Amino acid sequence: MEKSRKKFINVIDEAVVAAKRMDRDEQLFSYKGILYPTTFCSPEVFRAMESFEARSDDIILAGYPKSGTNWVGQILSDLVAIFEEKTQNKESSVNDEFPYLEVGDTEKYERMNKLPSPRLMVTHLRPENLPSSIFKNKSKILLLIRNPKDVATSFYHFSNAFSPLPSYETWDDFFVAFMTKKMPWGCYFEYISSWNKYADDENVMPITYEDLKENPVLCVKNIAAFFGISLTEKELQGVVERSSFQSMKKNSQKTHGSFGNIFFRKGGISDWKSLFSEDHNERMDKAFEERIGGTKLGTKLKYEVYCKA
Ligand code: A3P
Repeated sequence: MEKSRKKFINVIDEAVVAAKRMDRDEQLFSYKGILYPTTFCSPEVFRAMESFEARSDDIILAGYPKSGTNWVGQILSDLVAIFEEKTQNKESSVNDEFPYLEVGDTEKYERMNKLPSPRLMVTHLRPENLPSSIFKNKSKILLLIRNPKDVATSFYHFSNAFSPLPSYETWDDFFVAFMTKKMPWGCYFEYISSWNKYADDENVMPITYEDLKENPVLCVKNIAAFFGISLTEKELQGVVERSSFQSMKKNSQKTHGSFGNIFFRKGGISDWKSLFSEDHNERMDKAFEERIGGTKLGTKLKYEVYCKA
């Protein structure tokens, strides 16, 4: 098995074991006003991350949890592999670091400073909590966003299936927590609002889960172009096929270990209809309108198309 996947699976398995010894109220901790899972993050690692030196050729995927980061992470690692084959890069950038930038040990960033380019990393952090060198050195950021109703639905199922995160007795309990900033990695609306300030930067490319689902060929083409990677038609088709929900789910034991199924649940649009009552719809519609409606990213989410009952 590829070294990096082995590491990924180990980190997940260790978090599951550690979570068994924890009470529910120990599962999250607060850092700079935002909650994070204790089994994956720590204040020491956040502080160590400040020394991370970003590069202009880094490939960064930013996305709120449950927006499809594992999906787009697959697309990007496939694109990097194609790029390396074309450029006959002797020093492969495949490494065994956990792909999420904020997850690891305090020495992770020293090790990353020695890795060859292009380095691929994923993050759930808001821009103000990322190492400042990312913006100073103009690293390219692919910003993945997904409509809030499907994010909440996906997060609810994931929280109840994945023991390192606090679980909820009812959907209603979860909904209240989601709307009142009690989620790991913080509030969805604050996340989108913070990233809105960067949405027009030339080094930031926003894409939506829904666009990628509806037109993967065009989106993968655009993503490759943004990172300066040229693709033949055949390579493009290969990237799209290998990142389809069916192939990723089928492969999930190998890529994500025994919890693979949890990461690849439904992979569609509108599953929120199975959970949202009229009252939930009203509360979410109001929050969307007040918090991010009319902003660049809010408009890009096409709320009227994907979130109206
Ligand atoms: P659902 O729970 O709605 O199925 P993340 O990777 O950021 O944790 O996001 C998880 C969500 O992305 C899950 O949504 C998961 O099923 C979906 N997903 C993962 N791979 C996918 C793919 N190849 N195509 C579409 N959706 C995918």
